[in-house]
Amino acid sequence: MIISSPADYRAAAQKRLPPFLFHYLDGGAYAEKTLRHNVDDLAEVALRQRVLKDMSQLDTSIELFGEKLSMPVALSPVGLTGMYARRGEVQAARAAADKGVPFCMSSVSVCPIEEVAPKLDRPMWFQLYVLKDRGFMKNVLERAQTAGCSALVFTVDMPVPGARYRDMHSGMSGPNAALRRYWQAATHPHWAWNVGLHGKPHDLGNISKYMNKVIGLEDYIGYLSANFDPSISWKDLEWIRDFWKGPMLIKGILDPDDARDAVRFGADGIVVSNHGGRQLDGVLSSARALPPIADAVKGQIKILADSGIRNGLDVVRMLALGADCTMIGRAFIYALATAGQAGVAHLLDLLEKEMRVAMTLTSVKNVAEITGDLLAKQKL
Ligand code: FNR
Ligand code: LAC
Repeated sequence: MIISSPADYRAAAQKRLPPFLFHYLDGGAYAEKTLRHNVDDLAEVALRQRVLKDMSQLDTSIELFGEKLSMPVALSPVGLTGMYARRGEVQAARAAADKGVPFCMSSVSVCPIEEVAPKLDRPMWFQLYVLKDRGFMKNVLERAQTAGCSALVFTVDMPVPGARYRDMHSGMSGPNAALRRYWQAATHPHWAWNVGLHGKPHDLGNISKYMNKVIGLEDYIGYLSANFDPSISWKDLEWIRDFWKGPMLIKGILDPDDARDAVRFGADGIVVSNHGGRQLDGVLSSARALPPIADAVKGQIKILADSGIRNGLDVVRMLALGADCTMIGRAFIYALATAGQAGVAHLLDLLEKEMRVAMTLTSVKNVAEITGDLLAKQKL
């Protein structure tokens, strides 16, 4: 299969992955309307083409929390990344570090912090979920700090998991799930050999380390439902803000009032996100939620945004709508599932190329120049 665009990686990943993993990645909540709008609303953002301004020298880099990023993109935290390629977190994080962009490890990753961080020549970020067992938070924050993680991403839009009906059909959960997954693995030999057989152990590495016993993936969705804590509120975050030495971002902000609360709370950044349309179907796409949030808090706090970014042009669009930096989720996992570290490296190169084309034809020489001024008044 010829891979020429980021979209090709999705098609390739669908061929390679057992369906339970493809649909867990690809799917969203309920009727998946927000998921579709994330992609479509961004693709509908029209830009002003400007020409003849000598665009031979372009700079895609930014500085964020004292770190230099080669482009305004970070890898979003994605649970079970290590099920998409052999020790997938290590491979994705290496590709990100080589490219000079942050990799953010999920709380519910397969590889634990200690397996990934020492293999990188750049600090990674760490994403925190709140488990009912609050001891986990302190333990994992200490470990993330010891491992040199440079930013904490606190995800607040998953007090309960969203209703993702594809999972029941795919064998991720539902009747005879384990049996169906075995069958799917047997009929996807490339995955079965690389990840199923040689990518072990398959468990929630960070949580197993804390519990001192293996937290396996037999009933992953059930585990999330049983252990995530819906009682979470701003008060619970205060000790973390004081305990965590580096920058702290709140991920899952979709409303200007919550963005203002994040500023009042003293966060260093927010991630405007609807979790890739995986939580509450019917909430606004990030592309539509972002501009009023930027109006409310731009300049007071760093604004990152994800949900729906599929290529480098989308990165420029999200910045024009008000973000300081973007994050990508599914796009890099499709590439990881297809070609491991090399796939993610290639995807990041593609994003940069697409960004450069967009910057050249909108006549912006650096990321700071990507503002609302780029937006066309008419619709596409
Ligand atoms: C996620 N996301 C997520 N977010 C988070 O904070 N912690 C996590 O463990 C996960 N896990 C996870 C698994 C999978 C399979 C997906 C697709 C997503 C959400 C993720 O960080 C990000 O917000 C979205 O993926 C962004 O949307 P796009 O780029 O996938 O459209
Ligand atoms: C998900 C969780 C793990 O979206 O964030 O599946």
